[in-house]
Amino acid sequence: MKPLPTFTTKNLILRAVVEKDAVSWQNHFNDYEVIRNLSVYVPWPYPQDGALSFIKNSILPNLGIDRWVWGIFLQNNPDELIGVVDLWRDGKPEHRGFWLSRKHWGQGFMTEAVTPVMDYAFNELGFETLVFANASENIGSRRIKEKTGARLIRIEPANFVDPKFTEQEVWELHKSDWKSRNL
Ligand SMILES: CC(C)(COP(=O)(O)OP(=O)(O)OC[C@H]1O[C@@H](n2cnc3c(N)ncnc32)[C@H](O)[C@@H]1OP(=O)(O)O)[C@@H](O)C(=O)NCCC(=O)NCCS
Repeated sequence: MKPLPTFTTKNLILRAVVEKDAVSWQNHFNDYEVIRNLSVYVPWPYPQDGALSFIKNSILPNLGIDRWVWGIFLQNNPDELIGVVDLWRDGKPEHRGFWLSRKHWGQGFMTEAVTPVMDYAFNELGFETLVFANASENIGSRRIKEKTGARLIRIEPANFVDPKFTEQEVWELHKSDWKSRNL
């Protein structure tokens, strides 16, 4: 297993998630406006130990093996996790997910955060094609996919935490599309 690299972007630091990040993860993630956009498999109401048990049981045993999870931190507040970008491999294709604390939306942070992670996925991990999805109503998530060169493959029924969201857009991002992206 190779340790995850740390990335520094204009405003952010991205580094491997560790157990002590559970406190700030819990604070920022336990927000219906964030979680409503995610798959129905994410529990809502979010359990009090949700972040800690997810980090301990689902992330750390697999980190750098078939799962790569970076916490997002502001450079001027490097101990408070404000979001996450993750990659996982379950055969082919590979996958990416992300979330950001609501108070930090709309400042270009997730666009900034995915850039080194995509470079790492395609250049270092040997990813070939990422497949990811978003609720059709999730304009911010869609826009990041468009900007990073992803192609819309299909729209299909899906279940999200918010029961009003009933369909998802499924996208593919090929290594060649990433190289020729407009970002
Ligand atoms: C989706 C999410 C990660 C976007 O993060 P962000 O840092 O606000 O995104 P950015 O600021 O980098 O914006 C990316 C683009 O989306 C647009 N955008 C972001 N939120 C938007 C919104 N609510 N409505 C319309 N456009 C939006 C931005 O204007 C930008 O487009 P532009 O460069 O053409 O101006 C964040 O809203 C979030 O965490 N949401 C909840 C969890 C979630 O949805 N995760 C993804 C599940 S698929």
